[in-house]
Amino acid sequence: MTDMTDTTPSLYERLGGYDPISAFASTVLKRAMQDEVIGHFWNHATEASLYEEHINFVDFLCLHWGGETRYRGKDMVEAHRGMGVTEKDWDRLFSVVMEKCYDEYNLAPELREEVNAFLKKFKPVVVGSPTYRSIVLENPDMDITKGMKSVGVVWPPKPNRAQVQDKAS
Ligand code: HEM
Repeated sequence: MTDMTDTTPSLYERLGGYDPISAFASTVLKRAMQDEVIGHFWNHATEASLYEEHINFVDFLCLHWGGETRYRGKDMVEAHRGMGVTEKDWDRLFSVVMEKCYDEYNLAPELREEVNAFLKKFKPVVVGSPTYRSIVLENPDMDITKGMKSVGVVWPPKPNRAQVQDKAS
């Protein structure tokens, strides 16, 4: 239930709205792509897929932070299932964000924790999936259109998904 006495402006407003959030998303994507540990996730990204990922990331952040964008991307489970993001990748992303992006973006120190806490909530539905290709290699006869679950690999496990509030409230 919304607390009617809470008059704190939304994070969207405190960050300055759509354009600054778009710039933040660009910085995060660029720094992640440039990084030697996690950059490989974008090895085969096309220009078009990158544009789309950026716009979806911006709309996702704006919507969750109190803006009125429409998010057209996949939910966080679908977006990352089969990607093979590990704990090490995860930690690295946050090093990149904290050591590079926040400074470059000039994010006020008191907002860093809030942004960090938001992003970190998604860990259970981003980290730990096997790569889709590894599943196909282990199951040469599988129907690749039926998903990992068709060969008994359920990711994320139900409790992980339940921990994450994926819809903006
Ligand atoms: C180490 C951690 C992460 C890695 C390596 C990663 C990587 C990626 C990649 C490569 C894509 C593009 C997928 C595609 O083009 O189909 C993507 C999509 C996306 N990611 Fe992540 N991601 C990570 C963490 C996060 C986090 C913490 C968030 C925010 C909660 C997030 C939000 C998104 C969104 C909104 C999309 C767009 C989905 C769509 O276009 O349908 N990611 N991610």
